Amino acid sequence: MKHRRLGKTGLEVSEIGFGAWGIGGELWQDSDDKESLEALHLAVELGINFFDTALAYGKGHSEKLLSQLLKEHKEKIHVATKIPPKNREWPARKESRLRDVFPLSYIKQCTEESIRNLRVDRLDLQQFHVWNDDWSDDNEWRDAVDELKEQGKIRFLGISINDHQPENALRAAQTGYIDTFQVIYNIFDQTPEDKLFRECQKRGIGVIVRVPFDEGALTGSVTPETEFPRSDFRRDYFAGDRKTQVAQRMSKLRMLLDGEAKSLPELALRFCLHHDAVSTVIPGMRKPKHVETNCSLSDGRRLGAELIAELRKHRWERNFYD
Ligand SMILES: NC(=O)c1ccc[n+]([C@@H]2O[C@H](COP(=O)([O-])OP(=O)(O)OC[C@H]3O[C@@H](n4cnc5c(N)ncnc54)[C@H](OP(=O)(O)O)[C@@H]3O)[C@@H](O)[C@H]2O)c1
Repeated sequence: MKHRRLGKTGLEVSEIGFGAWGIGGELWQDSDDKESLEALHLAVELGINFFDTALAYGKGHSEKLLSQLLKEHKEKIHVATKIPPKNREWPARKESRLRDVFPLSYIKQCTEESIRNLRVDRLDLQQFHVWNDDWSDDNEWRDAVDELKEQGKIRFLGISINDHQPENALRAAQTGYIDTFQVIYNIFDQTPEDKLFRECQKRGIGVIVRVPFDEGALTGSVTPETEFPRSDFRRDYFAGDRKTQVAQRMSKLRMLLDGEAKSLPELALRFCLHHDAVSTVIPGMRKPKHVETNCSLSDGRRLGAELIAELRKHRWERNFYD
């Protein structure tokens, strides 16, 4: 497993991290705790030392599963979590006010709850789960962060930027408060390359890449026949004719497979890893076999310029979360 620096935090994190939304269950209906724990333990064995969760994932269930891993490997691994929006609106709306989404006392209360769920004294990285860049100059969130740092409850602070809005955090980047950004970056959504990545490189902000497989689309496993369980968020994400649109695009991407990338998951992950601004990529993984495949791709080999130029043509600007 190769490591990269997580921006100015100075932490050396595995370039393949672990996305722990799916293991929380709830919106991912086909999760199984026994299998998830096997995946988590295998991840540590194969060198993953960065795990991304959130208080909202399965209402704390993902954090509680991670607490079992921390019990054994506290010294070896870093866990990032997130404060859910108090008004439960994902993403934050342009007109949302900070006092309704992240009031000071609520930031502190959620942090305490995550500390309890994870059974740690301090969070390695606390992140805001949504953001509206108009809040950047507001002192309320900064005061909360100052207080939590003084009390030793959080070590670093990050923002998980709204889906497909990488530029809706550029002002926050200038505050000096932000250690990391978490952002969607994959073969379809390449927009962080337009401005965000440059800003992160200039300011030493670590970049955590989420949704590298576009919720499974980029693995090639979503076909027009795919059925997702009732109450699973992917039923909406891939609603209507979206599965057909995805399958058509994937058949074109499949034609690019060769010696450089032999499978679609490999192509998708290597695309994310090729950019120097990226600190870690966090695929969601519940199955041990996925942990094994994804870890095996951290070998230091980068896709060539020609293939990257080809992949640039597969940019697809749309928002399935709407
Ligand atoms: N707003 C936010 O802050 C936000 C939003 C979304 C995600 N996230 C974070 O980002 C992480 C990643 O995003 P995601 O989990 O939503 O989507 P994703 O990583 O794009 O896709 C996850 C899907 O890919 C499958 N998969 C993983 N490796 C594979 C492989 N080698 N071959 C075939 N399939 C493979 C997983 O299967 P299995 O699960 O069955 O193994 C799962 O169905 C989340 O877990 C979470 O930590 C944050």
